[in-house]
Amino acid sequence: MGHRLILVALIAIGLVSSWSVVQERSSEFSCCNLIVSYLHDLSCENIWNSNEMSIAEISGDTRSCEYPCKEIEHDRMILDGCVNVSVVTVCSGIKETQVTYLAQMCPLPLYNGMPTGIQSKSLLCCLKKSDF
Ligand SMILES: *[C@@H]1O[C@H](CO)[C@@H](O)[C@H](O)[C@H]1NC(C)=O
Repeated sequence: MGHRLILVALIAIGLVSSWSVVQERSSEFSCCNLIVSYLHDLSCENIWNSNEMSIAEISGDTRSCEYPCKEIEHDRMILDGCVNVSVVTVCSGIKETQVTYLAQMCPLPLYNGMPTGIQSKSLLCCLKKSDF
């Protein structure tokens, strides 16, 4: 009798774990270049959010990108600001994965020998960040 109960319990656990197919993970990206590498599965809907607002979407025939999204491609998204973003992948109506990318501020150059391009880029990063 006890075995039967255990069997029922195991089946229940198996069902619950197979329902929770959503995988959530988090990663980081550098605000020095504002590129988030992500290989989009174009047979699914890939929806990008920032501050709980949708900023971009890419799927087979859809492609949209709004500030702070600057450019979206098959394998990456380029941002126009140092903000946290997340991407939700929905395949045949079921949310499959969610990846959150935490923005890592670009450290200021430590010495003056840096090309000015790099300096002004990182300055841009931090000025923009303080605007938020
Ligand atoms: C990004 O998220 C982390 C963790 O939630 C938070 O500490 C940080 O302030 C956020 N950064 C920005 C730029 O919003």
